[in-house]
Amino acid sequence: MTTGGREADLGGGRLKVLVVGSGAREHAIAWRLSRSPRVGALYAAPGNGGTASLCTNLDGSAEDPEGLSCLAQENAVDVTIVGPEQPLANGVVDLFESRGLKAFGPTRAAAQIEASKSFARSLMAGNGVPSPDFEVFDDYGRAREFLSRHGGPVVVKADGLAAGKGVTVCRSPAQALEALSVCMVSRSFGPAGDRVVVEECMEGREVSVFAFTDGTHLSPMVAACDYKRLGDGDDGPNTGGMGSYAPPDLWSEGLEERVRREIMEPVLRALRESGATYKGVLYAGLMLTETGPRVLEFNCRLGDPETQVILPLMGTDLLEVVLACIDGGLGRLSIEWDSRACAGVVLASGGYPGAYRKGLPIQGLEDVDEDVLVFHAGTKRTGPERDAPTVTDGGRVMTVVGVGPALVQARERAYDNVSRIRFDGAHYRRDIALPQGAPVA
Ligand code: GLY
Repeated sequence: MTTGGREADLGGGRLKVLVVGSGAREHAIAWRLSRSPRVGALYAAPGNGGTASLCTNLDGSAEDPEGLSCLAQENAVDVTIVGPEQPLANGVVDLFESRGLKAFGPTRAAAQIEASKSFARSLMAGNGVPSPDFEVFDDYGRAREFLSRHGGPVVVKADGLAAGKGVTVCRSPAQALEALSVCMVSRSFGPAGDRVVVEECMEGREVSVFAFTDGTHLSPMVAACDYKRLGDGDDGPNTGGMGSYAPPDLWSEGLEERVRREIMEPVLRALRESGATYKGVLYAGLMLTETGPRVLEFNCRLGDPETQVILPLMGTDLLEVVLACIDGGLGRLSIEWDSRACAGVVLASGGYPGAYRKGLPIQGLEDVDEDVLVFHAGTKRTGPERDAPTVTDGGRVMTVVGVGPALVQARERAYDNVSRIRFDGAHYRRDIALPQGAPVA
C-alpha cells in the first residue's frame, strides 16, 4: 500500500484541500484524503518529506493563522483540515470562518477543552462526567502548601498547552513539588504553567477514543492505544508517542455506548449550551478504572500516533465526513470503521527525546512491502524531484503501520518492515501491540 505517487493537482472541479501540520498524523490525513474521489488537489503547510509525494507542500507555519489563511486564499483552497492543537487554540478556525473559508476543527472557544485543563475539568465536574477530583491553583504558595499536606500520588498539570510535556504523574510529595516548581517557578512552559491543576491519580488501562462531530451529532467512535514512554515495558522518558494500535482488546459496543452517554454527549451538550459549539474531532483520553471509564483529558483534534492506526480502518470518505462536520450534516452520513486491526511503530532519531542530529540519509524506503504504510514525520525531501533523497528532519521520523485481520498479523507486518528502513542511530520500541505481559522478542 503506497503512501505516495499521486500527482498533486488532479483538477476536474473537485475540491482543493489543505492539511495543516508536519507530523505523521498529517501525512496519514493527506494519504486518506488522496483516496477520495472528491479531492482534486492536496496541499500541506508545512508538510514533510512524505506529504511531498501526495501534496504540494506550502511554505508556512502551522502556528501562524494569518499566514495560513493567506496560503488558503492564494491557492483557492476549498477546505482546510487542521492537525495540531496549537493553531486551533490560536483561533485559526475563527479567522478562516471570518474570511469565508471552510476549516475543520473547533473554534478557539471550543478548543479550550484541550487548551485549558482547568476549563475542561470544571466543564466535566459541572456536567457529571466521570473524572478525578481536582484543585486549581494560580498561586504557587497555596499549591505548595496543598501538595506538602497531600501525601498521596497526584497528577500535576500545567493549565495550558505545553507540547505534550505539561503533565507529570507524581508518586511522592517531593516529585509533586518538583513538577509544580517546573511550572510555576522555572516557568518551563511559559504562561501555560502559571495556572496548575492538581488531580487525583487514577489506576487502570488507558485508551484514546475519537468521535467526529458537527456540534450536535456524534459519529460512531473509534478507539486506539498509544505508547508514550521511550523504552520497552513503558520505561524511560516521555515522548510524543512511540507507537499505537487499534482497536484495543477491551473496546466493545457496551463500552462505546457508555462513553457516548456518560462522557461525549454531556460534554458536547455543555459546550453547545455555553455558546462554544464544538465541531471537528473530539478526543477523550480515558482511564478504564474499576468503576468504569473516567476522563484523563480531552483533546481537540486527532491523536498522534493514534491517527496513523485509525485512518486506515475508516470505511467512509474522510472528505465527506469533514464537510459534514463543518456544514452540520453529520446526522445524515453513516460512518463506518472496518473490523481489521492496525499496529504502528515509530522510528525515532538517535538521542530522541533529547538532542538528535538532522539531515541523515534514510535508506530502505523502497524495500517496504506494498501492504505496509509508512507515514513520515521528521523527514525532508532534498529536492523537488520525486526521486530526490529523503533525510531525517526531526525526532520522531516516521510511523510504520501494519494492517491485518487481527492485531497479531498487523503487528507482524509492521515489525517485518520497520527494520528495512535505515538511518544512522534509528531506534524503535519492540513491544508495540504486544499482548499485556507477553515477553518482548
Ligand atoms: N497520543 C497523544 C496525543 O495525541 O496527544
